[in-house]
Amino acid sequence: MDKNLTWHATKVTQQERSKLKGQKPCVLWLTGLSGSGKSTLANALEQRLFSMGYHTYLLDGDNVRHGLNKDLGFDEDSRVENIRRIGEVCKLFVDAGLIVLCAFISPFERERKMVRDLFEKEEFIEVFVDTPLELCEKRDPKGLYKKARNGEIKNFTGIDSPYETPENPEIHIISADLEENVDMILRLLSEKLEFRNR
Ligand code: ADX
Repeated sequence: MDKNLTWHATKVTQQERSKLKGQKPCVLWLTGLSGSGKSTLANALEQRLFSMGYHTYLLDGDNVRHGLNKDLGFDEDSRVENIRRIGEVCKLFVDAGLIVLCAFISPFERERKMVRDLFEKEEFIEVFVDTPLELCEKRDPKGLYKKARNGEIKNFTGIDSPYETPENPEIHIISADLEENVDMILRLLSEKLEFRNR
């Protein structure tokens, strides 16, 4: 970072933005293999939160790679940079007072920790969508596992690129029942963030 830069504290604070929205901002970080159900779960959660009157935003791997991160591929350095940028975007959105849902493979423990460390403890909730590789490959919603097995795609997570299992996620998803998972996460959020139905 250039030493001639100065941080300007804004007059309107995170606390004030959050208060206006009537919520405690946070990041729900969904990690898991491609096809594990991260995006489906994140979407269902966002719909429920939205219908309860909360202010949310969803960041999803495929979508962010269409714009902000369209210059990045899937080699290790690109994945690290992908997650670094997304972490910074989350930081801005949390500062804006939003509840941010993130769905990224984010295969490396170090980068997940790097994002976690950008936040206060209660602001970051890691959700490990623990769908086994065999099931993700069987689902293969985008046909990418098939391509990876045929050698048409290189560095595919779970095939020829590693996925490091989260060591201490706040939430561990093993059920394939979407509604059950949404209910469980919302229950945990209501305890953690004093959510109320409004
Ligand atoms: S991450 O590893 O950098 O966190 P991210 O979540 O942004 O990945 O993007 C993953 C999505 O990109 C997958 O859901 C899949 O649709 C697509 N994709 C394309 N190539 C690959 C690849 N080599 N490995 C994993 N996902 C890939």
